[in-house]
Amino acid sequence: MIGIIGGSGLYEGLSSIKSKEKYVRTRFGDIKVLEGDDFIFVSRHGNPPVPPHMVKYHANMDVFNIMKIKYVIAISSVGSLRDKIKPGTIIVPEDLLDFTGRVWTYHNESPIHVNLYEPFCPKIRRILKNMNLKIGGTYATTKGPQFETRAEKKMLITMGADVVGMTVAPEARLARELGICYQPICPVVNYVDEKTTHQNTIDMVKKMEDNLAKIVMNLINSNFHRE
Ligand code: HPA
Repeated sequence: MIGIIGGSGLYEGLSSIKSKEKYVRTRFGDIKVLEGDDFIFVSRHGNPPVPPHMVKYHANMDVFNIMKIKYVIAISSVGSLRDKIKPGTIIVPEDLLDFTGRVWTYHNESPIHVNLYEPFCPKIRRILKNMNLKIGGTYATTKGPQFETRAEKKMLITMGADVVGMTVAPEARLARELGICYQPICPVVNYVDEKTTHQNTIDMVKKMEDNLAKIVMNLINSNFHRE
C-alpha cells in the first residue's frame, strides 16, 4: 500500500482505477480519502480547496499513519529558481529548507526530537531514478500564499534552494514524526519571476497531469511498498 497526497486533478486520474471513497477519522478531523487495492489518496487542499497556509496538515498525514502506510509520495508543484530547471519538467528533490516560520509537530506535550537530516525518502528516489526522473535539488517552503519578491528569490538562491513551493515542509516534518518515508515529486510550473500568475501555474499543472498520473501509476504498480 502506498500513500499519495496531491491535487484534485490527480484525484480524477486515480478514481478511474478500482477504488472507493471513504472518510478516515483522525484526532484532527475527518478526511475524505480514495482507497484502492494498493493506494490511499488524500487530496491535500480538500474540497472546496483551502489555501496552503490553511491546509489540515496534521489530519492529512495522520490518515497515512492510521492506515499503517509506510511510504507516501507528495505531488507538489513548484516554481523554479534556476534557469536550468525548466517549467514543464519534473524534479525529485533531495533536501529541504523551511521558511514557513511555523512549528510543525505532533509533540506538544513532551520533548521528542526526530532526526530530519535526510528529510525525504531515498528508497522512493531510487525507484524514481530507475524511471528516468531527474533526482536532486533543494525545495524551499515559503508561507505563501503570495509568490516571492525579487529579493526573496535572491535570498532563496543564496541559501541553496533550487525550487520553491508552499506545502512540503509541514508534510515532511509531520511524516518523519510518524515514521513515514515521504518523498515529494515536483512538477515545475513556472520560473519565479514577474510573469508568474495563479492561472499560469494552474494551466501548467493541468498540462502535466497525464504525465504525473503515469508516474504515480508506475509507483503504485511497483513492488517496493509491498516489501
Ligand atoms: N512560488 C511558490 N510556490 C509555488 C510557485 C512559486 O513560484 N509555483 C508553484 N508553487
